[in-house]
Amino acid sequence: MLYKCVKCGGEAAVRIDYATVGFCKECFKEFFERKVRSTVLKYAMIKPNDRVLVAVSGGKDSSSLLFALRKVFPDLKIEAFHINLGIKGYSKESEHKVSELAEYAKTNLTIFDLEKELGISIEDFKNTVYRRKICAPCGVVKRYLINKVAYEKGFTKVATAHTLDDTVALLFNGYLHGDVNGIVRLKPVLPSTHTKLVAKIKPLWEVTDKECLFYALFCDLPYITEPCPLGGETTKMRERKELISELSTKIRGFKHIFLKSHTKRMLPLLETSVNMLPLIECELCGMPSSERICAFCKRMRLLK
Ligand code: AMP
Ligand code: FES
Ligand code: ZN
Repeated sequence: MLYKCVKCGGEAAVRIDYATVGFCKECFKEFFERKVRSTVLKYAMIKPNDRVLVAVSGGKDSSSLLFALRKVFPDLKIEAFHINLGIKGYSKESEHKVSELAEYAKTNLTIFDLEKELGISIEDFKNTVYRRKICAPCGVVKRYLINKVAYEKGFTKVATAHTLDDTVALLFNGYLHGDVNGIVRLKPVLPSTHTKLVAKIKPLWEVTDKECLFYALFCDLPYITEPCPLGGETTKMRERKELISELSTKIRGFKHIFLKSHTKRMLPLLETSVNMLPLIECELCGMPSSERICAFCKRMRLLK
């Protein structure tokens, strides 16, 4: 079936499955940017004098995030941050794409090179108990460094590129295993609960992976197309996303309904039943932690 752009009547370049409408390239870019803007405003993610550090991996989602934020909030203090993880055949190209993107989006970029700064590569975890499941320690290292650099450089918000598909897949797993603590952390805004913990925001909370892909393509953004050779988005996550996409063909709007029910109905209830322990400071690095030694320092010890 041939679709027309729902806004200008021109030939559609993309079809939005869950709403059964089409958009031409230009109208789609506007639609995407409006959605990012309305998400930021709806959840009061950013205040006018915030300084926002955008965590950029080099993939389509975070490239779209940086570019859209820049476009939608031209006066906002935004900078980009990238961690070179030292993964052969992947990290060099990712860093290159991020540098190109930062230039294209006229944004300052800070690069943290694991090998230069800490003398390690994320691949070193292959020789630890993690063996081939490197995504777990990789996630810990990334979360820690993104927060630490944001804190040390005086940023007031960290923006990550978690999409609607990411959140729905994580929610699905959370409910499957009854992981209430994990579910409660799936929010569009994670406020700061410690002076050294910078608040996290997810402006792509309501946009899908596919929408990010089309936005990146239509805006000619530089981004890396190959997945991380170590698993990146783990096979399990990918399989979950495929299953959820299939469900969405049977139950129209499934992903959006699931996310909305979670955000509006379940989250407020669950939050009252979970007691978050106050954070203390890690004995080794002084950064916030729920235990005496933080998750990052524990992982670093494994490499020594
Ligand atoms: P992930 O743990 O790979 O799902 O990534 C979660 C978020 O962290 C992404 O949405 C990005 O915003 C950010 N991110 C991922 N990889 C990097 C990286 N190498 N450098 C900076 N930020 C990253
Ligand atoms: Fe972390 Fe690939 S990006 S394991
Ligand atoms: Zn520590």
